[in-house]
Amino acid sequence: MTKDLIEKAKDKFAEIIKEQLERVEVLKKTIADIDYKKLTPIIIGICFGDGIGEVISRHAQRVLAHVLKDEVSKGKIVFKDIDGLTIENRAKQMKAIPDDVLEEIKSCHVILKGPTTTPQTGDKWPNIESANVAMRRYLDLFANVRPVKVPKEGIDWCFFRENTEGAYILGSKGFDVSQDLSVDFKVITEQGAERIIRMAFEYARKNKIDRVTVVTKSNVVKTTDGRFSKVAFRIAREYPQIRLDEWYIDIMTAKLIDPLRRKDFKVIVLPNLYGDILTDEAAQLQGGVGTAGSANIGKRWAMFEAIHGSAPRMVKEGRAKFADPSSMIRASAMLLRHIGYLQPAEKVEQALEICGQYEKKITITGRESAATGSEYTDYILSWIDNPRLAESYKTFIS
Ligand code: IPM
Ligand code: MG
Repeated sequence: MTKDLIEKAKDKFAEIIKEQLERVEVLKKTIADIDYKKLTPIIIGICFGDGIGEVISRHAQRVLAHVLKDEVSKGKIVFKDIDGLTIENRAKQMKAIPDDVLEEIKSCHVILKGPTTTPQTGDKWPNIESANVAMRRYLDLFANVRPVKVPKEGIDWCFFRENTEGAYILGSKGFDVSQDLSVDFKVITEQGAERIIRMAFEYARKNKIDRVTVVTKSNVVKTTDGRFSKVAFRIAREYPQIRLDEWYIDIMTAKLIDPLRRKDFKVIVLPNLYGDILTDEAAQLQGGVGTAGSANIGKRWAMFEAIHGSAPRMVKEGRAKFADPSSMIRASAMLLRHIGYLQPAEKVEQALEICGQYEKKITITGRESAATGSEYTDYILSWIDNPRLAESYKTFIS
């Protein structure tokens, strides 16, 4: 009996190792970055998702279409609506991303993606893999870049979360060895660690930031986190002007709420699961997960999304129209920056900060007593169109 179980487990393990060794070979091949300046048109796909996703991605689309209207009329930008990423359709097709939807996504250059429901053990949906995690893997979106800014507290962080490995890559491939024993896997590869760490260092170099922080638990999770940490120190040798320090995830979580220490952190690079957790905490300090956007960047595609989920509870309580679209609008600004539209990106970001952190003439809380997402989007648009935007922003942050 035990022997049988071990044999079965060995077979599964062998399959996983084979797949990962093949993946490493693919990672070893370098692919050039896309030059968006040379692309006409740039195709922006909008995946509406489900739950509040369907509502807030339309608000974000409205902002994008507004700031890009000249580009659209010149034929430089094309929007493509992509339906079919709803939980209902994914459950019906029993696929994290149905094949036809994936084809459509792949026909775009960049994607704005609304939140999608991730089934969990015990809910009414079949336990299919998360659409986010699948999309990150299918499109090899290895860098999850999550900025968090609270200017009045001196906080200006940029998190580089590894997005395709760690505890996530095989999250759906773990297995129950017996009735009593379950095993999941965590994988870190030299190449996977290197590409995200290098991106963090390059970001620091370009932005004249002299410090990068790597977050692990390499004192306990010695092999995988140990490798991540070693790669970070190896890459750091190529950047003598940048100091690298390593923090363990537990104390790092504490330091993010230490007002004396937290503003010293600037660029933070970390494996997948720690990045997932720490960025929610960081976003809370900025005003909640509803205010944070997230870029998922790969060599061929890039996808931009909110950092939160589809909030089924809000939908059930009839509050979807009160959901805060700021996260998706911030994701849109990140998308604009990524494809080289820096000026409209800056306008959107400044308007978001003025509305959410300074002027606060209209507030959004997710409840009926405050604005609807649509009203709040109008408020943001009014600042985007305000000729005194840049000047007012300077006054606000000073
Ligand atoms: C995120 C989310 C996802 C993740 C979920 C929805 C699978 O929490 O983007 O941070 O864990 O990566
Ligand atoms: Mg998360």
